[in-house]
Amino acid sequence: MDARKLEMTVLMTPEMANFSGKVHGGALLNLLDRVAFSCASRFSQSYCVTLSVDQVVFKQPINVGELVTFRAAINHAGRTSMEVGIRVEAEDIRSGSRRHTNSCYFTMVAVDEGGKPVTVPDLKVLDEDEARRHRAAEIRKNLRKRFVQEMAEASKG
Ligand SMILES: CC(C)(COP(=O)(O)OP(=O)(O)OC[C@H]1O[C@@H](n2cnc3c(N)ncnc32)[C@H](O)[C@@H]1OP(=O)(O)O)[C@@H](O)C(=O)NCCC(=O)NCCS
Repeated sequence: MDARKLEMTVLMTPEMANFSGKVHGGALLNLLDRVAFSCASRFSQSYCVTLSVDQVVFKQPINVGELVTFRAAINHAGRTSMEVGIRVEAEDIRSGSRRHTNSCYFTMVAVDEGGKPVTVPDLKVLDEDEARRHRAAEIRKNLRKRFVQEMAEASKG
């Protein structure tokens, strides 16, 4: 088992539907958060909390009755934080056709019993794909920091 990765498949059931009969965005976010928690906690062997969620764009609806697979991986590990990338694919059970509905990035922080951040293991990058995801995650980490700084500057007026 690769402790940096996690895959989960869930059947979309009627209680997850919104008023138009498609899967509710909030239901999907709930599942994404569980996947991110599980992936980060398994990798760090600590409980983790969600610090932020980036780039959740629902470009395609997901239908009740479809099987949704979440493929999660640790893209980057800092001192106490990790970026978990999640790719979401929906599968029509009868035709077997699959489509990529969205991908998003969770920043998770490993914490102790008091909720204080604790260090996480180093992430070993094993191939070119992982190196590419790692570089992209570093860019996002820097952009997040810049965003926070620029918003703080802007709010000073
Ligand atoms: C996550 C939490 C433990 C971090 O606490 P903190 O005092 O900010 O801790 P630190 O300053 O040591 O930062 C911890 C890590 O988060 C990162 N971080 C903190 N604020 C950040 C921000 N605004 N943007 C990006 N990264 C940030 C730090 O860079 C650090 O990562 P690193 O160790 O890999 O470099 C704290 O903010 C918390 O408990 N948040 C609530 C979490 C929660 O309840 N989530 C569910 C919401 S319903």
